[in-house]
Amino acid sequence: MKDFQDKVAAITGAGSGIGRALALQLVADGARVAISDWDADGLAETALLLEERGAQPHSTVLDVRDRAAVHAWADAVAAHFGAVNLVVNNAGITIFGTVEESPYEDIEKVVDVDFWGVVHGTKAFLPHLAASGEGHVVNVSSIFGLFGVPTQSSYNAAKFAVRGFTEALRQELLISGQPVGVTCVHPGGIKTNIVNNATASNAADTSGIARVFNEKLTRTTPEAAARTILRGVRRGRPKVLIGADAVAVDLVVRALGASYQRPFAAVSRRLTATLAAPAHRKKVSA
Ligand SMILES: NC(=O)c1ccc[n+]([C@@H]2O[C@H](COP(=O)([O-])OP(=O)(O)OC[C@H]3O[C@@H](n4cnc5c(N)ncnc54)[C@H](O)[C@@H]3O)[C@@H](O)[C@H]2O)c1
Repeated sequence: MKDFQDKVAAITGAGSGIGRALALQLVADGARVAISDWDADGLAETALLLEERGAQPHSTVLDVRDRAAVHAWADAVAAHFGAVNLVVNNAGITIFGTVEESPYEDIEKVVDVDFWGVVHGTKAFLPHLAASGEGHVVNVSSIFGLFGVPTQSSYNAAKFAVRGFTEALRQELLISGQPVGVTCVHPGGIKTNIVNNATASNAADTSGIARVFNEKLTRTTPEAAARTILRGVRRGRPKVLIGADAVAVDLVVRALGASYQRPFAAVSRRLTATLAAPAHRKKVSA
């Protein structure tokens, strides 16, 4: 896909962050967009921003975990616009917690949204993308789809799974010769609401993590992330890394192999000790 002029793009998780920035950038590039999110207010804000730019978005409140709803949405978008060229499976959440302290429900929730949401969006839109004659699937993994991180095992599992699923899909489509490109996206820290909206399995206060994430770990804006993703689609890239942090981690992990875990654990231990201190004190004094 060399440009987005007159193309039709569907984006999940478009009520905030990277999804919203993608919708705005795609419209600026001449595309028509279908947006979805489970957050009706966030979605309405994105729709308003798009309308202010002269667009007429197709807007649907849905939970990407709901297989039937995602399939119905894909069919409705194809019927509404007459074709669909691009799907960006972007909706995502995280929950903090060690493997030991995470209840099954939390692990299932993260995997259901972050992995199964991507599977639903891919399978629901694939026939429409192929029928368009010029289609593309973008699945949003993470820098956490490249290396394991303490307290992020469920998110890691889901994002590694997105990567494997997407890399296999790309090869299948290369073999079958269908006119559908595939890109797996690995953002580093992006200034969005993902950590502000996160909870912790042990009910610890996550505001300290959110503060460090927002102030220290995020160097890239959602707008810059959207530009990088769309450049990757135009160039037919299989893998898109967003931000210097993602590029550096990718290099280090490939250079060190599994040995990355010991030095990374040492960094995480120091960070976790600093972050856990206020929450721990709060718990003890309560
Ligand atoms: N922000 C980062 O640093 C970062 C880093 C790596 C990967 N990512 C990934 O980027 C994607 C976009 O996240 P973001 O950073 O823009 O966060 P965000 O929280 O700003 O946006 C995510 C959107 O997804 C929606 N959503 C969550 N669960 C949903 C569900 N079940 N059904 C429908 N919508 C749902 C939320 O309501 C929200 O509008 C996610 O997949 C995330 O894992 C983000």
